Amino acid sequence: MSISFNSFIKLGSNRNLSKAELSQILDSLKIEQVKYQDWKDYLLLNLGKNAQKKLVKKLEQTGSVIKFGNLVFKVGASEKKELKDNLIKFIDEIFVKYFPKRQRQLKLSLNIRTSDETQKSELSEETRKIIRTISQKNSFPVKILPTKKVAYELTPFDYNKENLPSRGVELNLFVIKSQIYFGPTRWVTNPFKDIKQDEERPVRFFTHGTSIKLSRTLVTLANIPFDGVMLDPFCGTGTILIEGLKQGLKVIGVDKDQKCVRSSKTNLHHFSEKYPSREKMKEKWRIHLSDSRKLTDAVRKKVDGVVTEPFLGPFFKHLPQIEEAQFIMRNLERLYTRVLAECKTLLKNGAKILFIMPEYNYPLKRSVYPNVKSICEKTGLTVLEESKFFNIKFPVEIGRKHNVIARKLFIFENK
Ligand SMILES: C[S@@+](CC[C@H](N)C(=O)[O-])C[C@H]1O[C@@H](n2cnc3c(N)ncnc32)[C@H](O)[C@@H]1O
Repeated sequence: MSISFNSFIKLGSNRNLSKAELSQILDSLKIEQVKYQDWKDYLLLNLGKNAQKKLVKKLEQTGSVIKFGNLVFKVGASEKKELKDNLIKFIDEIFVKYFPKRQRQLKLSLNIRTSDETQKSELSEETRKIIRTISQKNSFPVKILPTKKVAYELTPFDYNKENLPSRGVELNLFVIKSQIYFGPTRWVTNPFKDIKQDEERPVRFFTHGTSIKLSRTLVTLANIPFDGVMLDPFCGTGTILIEGLKQGLKVIGVDKDQKCVRSSKTNLHHFSEKYPSREKMKEKWRIHLSDSRKLTDAVRKKVDGVVTEPFLGPFFKHLPQIEEAQFIMRNLERLYTRVLAECKTLLKNGAKILFIMPEYNYPLKRSVYPNVKSICEKTGLTVLEESKFFNIKFPVEIGRKHNVIARKLFIFENK
């Protein structure tokens, strides 16, 4: 039995960002080459056993990956007997592995992906029959969780509400070019954790804060070594700083606004209090009140990476006249150039700056944005053009398509 892919990843709604983050993680695991295939909102991968194990552990720190699972066998769609035999073998194994010790029943969810509706109901019927037989043989009741027709599979909310990893498992059957792949889901992101963290923090920006998920992705992409120093020169309420602390970094935040500095301090203090080693945690962060155009007056320490969502210009419901937009953008470009030049003097060699920039898109494909080439010439920084794996070109667009101001993620390098 040959298998060309042994793992799958369900990507987030921003697939490019998700792939860029995954690429960074695989790179940090020292993986040299990855065999992969795009398939709908999934990525099929071929990874060594060790890499799979390490990847699952790392996924908890990602902000844009939804699911990870194993693919344990592949058979031709017409090989009915082989499919049945394999399903019996692997579902039996799953019963043994996930046999819940204290629960009264095993929960299972079926994610069957094929565009052929007849094939879908046949596969569903066949798999359910096998599950029921194995359940009877083991005298252990099983509950097959219903999935909504349009969604096919359980959402991360359902998955975590049902407490699937400890009470059962999601089984996946993917039909890809007349091949059927089968395997269990191993990890799913837990949206409740972020909601709780979001609701619990004392101060939040509702209009110009960076989301927790995006902050986490940005920190991952910066690839700062454990215990290294991360700087956010436009720290606002400290969302990115908290994600840095969660990933084991020391963090420095700077903001020119007194209220923002107070908010960041309140949020980071609240975050530190949750740790048993709270006094040690409080040693890991500093917030300075300063204009980041004079960053080096406030920060004297060398840093291992900069991660920031800067001031993106005024908030608009509708775009201004193009002349006004050009004027705003020239000012932003000046601000970014000065702050990036300051960051460069603090940045260790080879370290990265994750920096979001705005872009105003007008009809007839006219856009107004900062001139990044000029910023590079003036600061001596270079921009990363492509991710190591999956051919993702930078800058990557983030945020929603219909937003008036598009946001683009640039990765600058200090080479
Ligand atoms: C988009 S917000 C940052 C959001 C932050 N990541 C969060 O989630 O709370 C931009 C921040 O930049 C600050 N800012 C604007 N110009 C600045 C400057 N020249 N120096 C330092 N901070 C500045 C603003 O006060 C604001 O808090």
